[in-house]
Amino acid sequence: MNAHHPAPAGEITPVQQAVIDSVDPAWRHDPYRSYEVLREAGPFVPGPIGHLVTRHTEAEAIMQDPRWSHAEESELLHPDSDVELPGSFLWMEPPDHTRLRGLVSKAFTARTIEGTRGRAERLVSDLFDKILAQGEVDLLSELAYPLPLTMVCELLGVPAEAHDAVRRMSGGIARGLDPDLLLSREELDARTRSVHEFIQFFGDLVELRRRDPRPDLITALVRAEASGVRLTTTELLGTLLILVVAGHETTVNLIGNGVLALVRNPDQFALLKQNPDLAAPAVDEILRYDAPVHLTTRTARAPMTIAGHDFAPGDPVVVLLASANRDPGAFPDAHRLDLTRYARGHRARRHLSFGLGLHYCLGAPLARLEMEVTLRAIAERVSAITLLEDPPPYRPNLVVRGMSRLHVHVRPSTR
Ligand code: HEM
Repeated sequence: MNAHHPAPAGEITPVQQAVIDSVDPAWRHDPYRSYEVLREAGPFVPGPIGHLVTRHTEAEAIMQDPRWSHAEESELLHPDSDVELPGSFLWMEPPDHTRLRGLVSKAFTARTIEGTRGRAERLVSDLFDKILAQGEVDLLSELAYPLPLTMVCELLGVPAEAHDAVRRMSGGIARGLDPDLLLSREELDARTRSVHEFIQFFGDLVELRRRDPRPDLITALVRAEASGVRLTTTELLGTLLILVVAGHETTVNLIGNGVLALVRNPDQFALLKQNPDLAAPAVDEILRYDAPVHLTTRTARAPMTIAGHDFAPGDPVVVLLASANRDPGAFPDAHRLDLTRYARGHRARRHLSFGLGLHYCLGAPLARLEMEVTLRAIAERVSAITLLEDPPPYRPNLVVRGMSRLHVHVRPSTR
């Protein structure tokens, strides 16, 4: 049945089916077909929580427009939250957003992050020594998790023996970022437990750094507080929470999705091996092709009309970043992985995988560096990757979408 033809009364239309499929864990391995139906149905499609924004032009416009806020959806998405999630600046507006983001932004500039390249290279090199010695591995647990987790924990100053505990807490919190209506009782309970554990653990670490300062980001935040910057303990914990959760749950999927994309596109894998300098632009193409964060939400703060659609103050929308990235109206050959798309001299529209505007991803330089170093290592040290489980299983997570396992055989290059 054509997506534009209405179904008989009582039947679900193809567009309604696509809306259902787009949140169904059974379709997590390929939500892109549903996105295609939704995009063709129009730029705004009614969804379970406000309209879904399906296309690049409108998604870009909304993300950049300060009349859309990211501070008001919490009640809507998480009505079942029985724990006070410490507020992070991701869900704030100026002036609080400016004050809190300003405290950590220096640590994440492209220049500062470039200073950690050597550390990232050593980590990746050690991880590949182990992976290549084993041959058969779960690349998520042996590469995609340890790299970003170690990098963000070291930046903050979390002791090495606590990294696994931090990973567990942040996993429970990341699952809880999805709308409550999609979560089971166990998942809601796990979120509550994880937030309590997080507050306890990082509360203690903050106290420790007050007494025993170190050259790390937690100490810098404690110092800022001591030097008179207004910063409540809840805000401090909220800042740490967003850095930890956003700092690795997302990059894990970038690495996982990227490796999978290379396995599924052997011509592009071969191209990268021929030209390892493609690693940097390839990061952006992988971000576009299979985004680690599939959606975000916004609420209208003023009446406005976009593409003929009227919005009233308080209207929520779900911006489908991953659908905008595959919009054929914005990207020629949108469904093709083309590692040269963002190479120097090529002119491609920007992808929306790091968001846009006020809340543009603070950690983008770190995520880009980690992925670039990984792609270079693959180009230089790996001759072939074979899937041992096809398709790989996916986690049920909707917002931060990715695999739960990537069981592969990795063959070394003969050097
Ligand atoms: C591939 C990896 C990553 C992806 C795809 C990603 C994606 C995003 C997206 C889409 C947003 C905007 C959300 C919105 O506007 O609603 C965002 C914001 C943010 N990200 Fe990332 N992120 C990644 C890695 C990181 C890393 C490594 C860090 C930090 C260590 C980080 C920290 C943040 C923070 C703090 C914000 C909030 C910024 C603000 O509100 O001003 N992210 N990220």
